[in-house]
Amino acid sequence: MKGKINYSVTDGIAILEVDNPPVNPLSDGVRHGLIESMEKAESDDSVVGIVLTGKGRSFIAGADISEFGQQIEGPSIHDAFEKIEKSTKPVIAAINGSALGGGLETALCCHYRVSSKQGFIGLPEVNLGLLPGAGGTQRLPRLVGPAEALKIMLSGRHIPAVKALDMGVIDSLSEGDIVEDAVAFAKDVAEKNETHPLVRNLNEKVLAARGDENIISEARALAAKTRKGQFAPGKIIQCVEEAINLDDFDEGMKKEAEYFIECLLNPQREAMIHIFFGERAASKINDVPKETPKMDINKAGIIGSGTMGGGIAMCFANIGIPVHIVDQDEENLKKGLAAIERNYKFMVDRGRMSAEQMEKTFGLISSGLSYEEISDVDIVIEAVYENLDLKLEIFKKLDEAVKDDAILASNTSGLDVDALADCTKRPGKVVGTHFFSPANVMRLLEVVRGEKTSNETLATIMSLGKVLKKAPVVSLNAPGFIGNRMLFGYTTQANKLLLEGALPHQVDSALENFGMSMGPFRMLDLVGLDLGWRARKLSGTESPITAKINDALCDLDRYGQKNGKGFYNYVEGSRAPHPAPENEAIYEQVSKDNGFERREISDQEIIDRCILALVNEGAKILEEGVAQRSGDMDVVGDMDVVYINGYGFPIWRGGPMQYANMEGLDVISAKIDEFAKNDPEFWQKADLIGSLSEVKGRFGDAPAPEDRKPVSGFNKSSVAGNL
Ligand SMILES: NC(=O)c1ccc[n+]([C@@H]2O[C@H](COP(=O)([O-])OP(=O)(O)OC[C@H]3O[C@@H](n4cnc5c(N)ncnc54)[C@H](O)[C@@H]3O)[C@@H](O)[C@H]2O)c1
Repeated sequence: MKGKINYSVTDGIAILEVDNPPVNPLSDGVRHGLIESMEKAESDDSVVGIVLTGKGRSFIAGADISEFGQQIEGPSIHDAFEKIEKSTKPVIAAINGSALGGGLETALCCHYRVSSKQGFIGLPEVNLGLLPGAGGTQRLPRLVGPAEALKIMLSGRHIPAVKALDMGVIDSLSEGDIVEDAVAFAKDVAEKNETHPLVRNLNEKVLAARGDENIISEARALAAKTRKGQFAPGKIIQCVEEAINLDDFDEGMKKEAEYFIECLLNPQREAMIHIFFGERAASKINDVPKETPKMDINKAGIIGSGTMGGGIAMCFANIGIPVHIVDQDEENLKKGLAAIERNYKFMVDRGRMSAEQMEKTFGLISSGLSYEEISDVDIVIEAVYENLDLKLEIFKKLDEAVKDDAILASNTSGLDVDALADCTKRPGKVVGTHFFSPANVMRLLEVVRGEKTSNETLATIMSLGKVLKKAPVVSLNAPGFIGNRMLFGYTTQANKLLLEGALPHQVDSALENFGMSMGPFRMLDLVGLDLGWRARKLSGTESPITAKINDALCDLDRYGQKNGKGFYNYVEGSRAPHPAPENEAIYEQVSKDNGFERREISDQEIIDRCILALVNEGAKILEEGVAQRSGDMDVVGDMDVVYINGYGFPIWRGGPMQYANMEGLDVISAKIDEFAKNDPEFWQKADLIGSLSEVKGRFGDAPAPEDRKPVSGFNKSSVAGNL
């Protein structure tokens, strides 16, 4: 049995301490212990009140995820909760740290809640494709009102104790020792009050919401915006509707249980839990021991104040680390700082930060034109144009200008990090930190491990990534790293579909309906069609067939969003794409010139060809070991985490590799064979797909490759785009 309850009595108050390291989940031992301890306290006449708290930094973290889908041993969570609610003595939750999911649901069964200042609450089940299934959907609306409860459950966000006090989730904030304060609180209420409130009986707020249709329609609009395609949010909303409309609390609980099972059985749950564990696993690097020392990062430098430099600077400032930006061009520097300021003002306008916070945060960003200004920083992140010669020159300069133990990182999208390391006297301190645009928003951080990158550097960057609130994933130094390498096949297919007869908005809407946050042509318009076009012109190379339409558009000054016309048309001040019928003659001409006969293409073909291009390349990465692991399942997780956090792949599908696993690799393999009949050069099926499909296997089943053989062949500039 996992976990236990430590029982003691102080001053007539029984203290029940959940002891189930590291985060006190409600495992079988804890549920048993809770029931036994409640009975013991109840039958001890000298006990007048009960305090429930957690050992360590967590109150109760929630349900034990490892028990999901398993036959539950012993008493259920509901049995344990019933004991608490039926107690004749007041039960006080002493929230000593995180009270998330089942943790908060436990606290909501107690008569009172006291929290330490560091405590925080939340119902994050939605992030795992679930709903709070232990009464959360019925109790929280009764405590804070249905509208607020819906926001909490649909966002899954953590709410600090001070805010929770304002909302009425907790009754008192402890400034000192949480258990001592909770004991005092228990003695006080035991003495003063004859009866003690139970959240299940607080009906005022749910009754007030009856007949108010706005609450539910606003929640639906919020879910549609922030959780497109997800199953659980709709079920959470239904649960709250039941809480509002059913007279009997226990009937509402039955509905909650019913909807919970629906979520549990939905494939989205498996997909989202795969990502949850994938992100956790991604931060552990097999051959870098946990105890590896990490450098303190107290000040950062950024080279280049463009799109990425500005966004990365904001990431540091947002968490309170001073950052200095150096650019060579005064005009660009001014523009870059103005863009940062605009971003912060936007956040203030939207109520996401106060004017004072903005002043403080923006005040942490300084700038200048000289490398000498960053001599004392602990890390420099270079974010200049994607050109190896330029980056080499800058790394040589940085090596001289910056203190010897500082880390030198590059935000390159796909250039050779080893080449950058080798031009310095500190190759162990050189690493790739590939942020995604907009860097202050996107969670993915691809950490590129060079051949000589030291363990200390890697451990420092992984921990810094987390501090910067990113999801760091390590890639070996190989062309395209993980994400852009997979993306290449995806955009190639999108462009081929265009040549064969599809239109940009058809391709985009098919993939957006599949769940991608943005279709490939909207994405290309956003990045700028001229980048690749200029690079190809400069290098004097013949454009690949898949770039011909892009080039033809650029020849007509259609560069994308930046000048209001690309694959789509844009009206000034808006990013909304409008189809551009005037482009159709160009598509027809380019198709004809290149020997394509245009035809009707189904949405299913669009989805299959684009998504399976990702899957096939992902399988080749698995074979070659471009990701950093020896554990195959971890590599699958890494690729999926990359696609969800950096490329807008729908989280509820679990990433491209998980999607393929769930579709069945035999199905995937047969589809690729079919595509290969028309385009054998592109559709070279990964051996792994063939071998796994024969045994009805899944990605992650095969043993990891012993010898990692990432392909080589870096370019001097990434002409495929600079994502
Ligand atoms: N834009 C994206 O979506 C994206 C995403 C991920 C990675 N990247 C990568 O990030 C890097 C920067 O891209 P970006 O889009 O921010 O570029 P950008 O063109 O917006 O900005 C580059 C900045 O670097 C400055 N610069 C050029 N040479 C310099 C020098 N010698 N010293 C100091 N500053 C100099 C320029 O003046 C300019 O302000 C590239 O390597 C790119 O591949 C870009």
